[in-house]
Amino acid sequence: MYFTYKWFHLLGLMMFFSGISATTLVGYFGKMKEKPKILMLTRTFYVLGMLVLIVSGFLTLSAMGAMAGGLPLWAKLKLGIVVLFIPCIILANMRGTWARFLIPTYVLLGAAAAALALFKPL
Ligand code: HEM
Repeated sequence: MYFTYKWFHLLGLMMFFSGISATTLVGYFGKMKEKPKILMLTRTFYVLGMLVLIVSGFLTLSAMGAMAGGLPLWAKLKLGIVVLFIPCIILANMRGTWARFLIPTYVLLGAAAAALALFKPL
């Protein structure tokens, strides 16, 4: 099951980052008269993607037997990164949002979360 959960983790990851980035661009060009229909898809992607990411993350942890003595610190830090995405999601949905600042922020936060799982420094 470990590989299945991990595959879902990667699926959620791709859904989340494509959804949040595309939503940010729609927010940036927010002066359009009609909201583009694609916004439904991009929002669904980041909401579903984050849910899949969190659920599959915990399932992977339990499949690894890494939850026995409580959550490892690197996993707690990953959850902290997920929390940091909350203000990003709010900003992404604002008209004329700071896309130039937000998109690099997603890259940095995402790379930090990935590095915590890859290198498990703590
Ligand atoms: C922004 C959010 C997240 C991103 C970008 C992310 C990214 C990644 C990536 C790229 C991997 C693959 C690393 C590898 O192959 O070793 C991974 C693995 C993993 N992630 Fe996440 N993750 C996120 C959130 C979470 C959360 C919330 C949890 C649960 C606490 C979690 C738990 C795990 C676990 C258990 C692994 C497997 C580690 C292993 O196989 O050694 N992740 N994550």
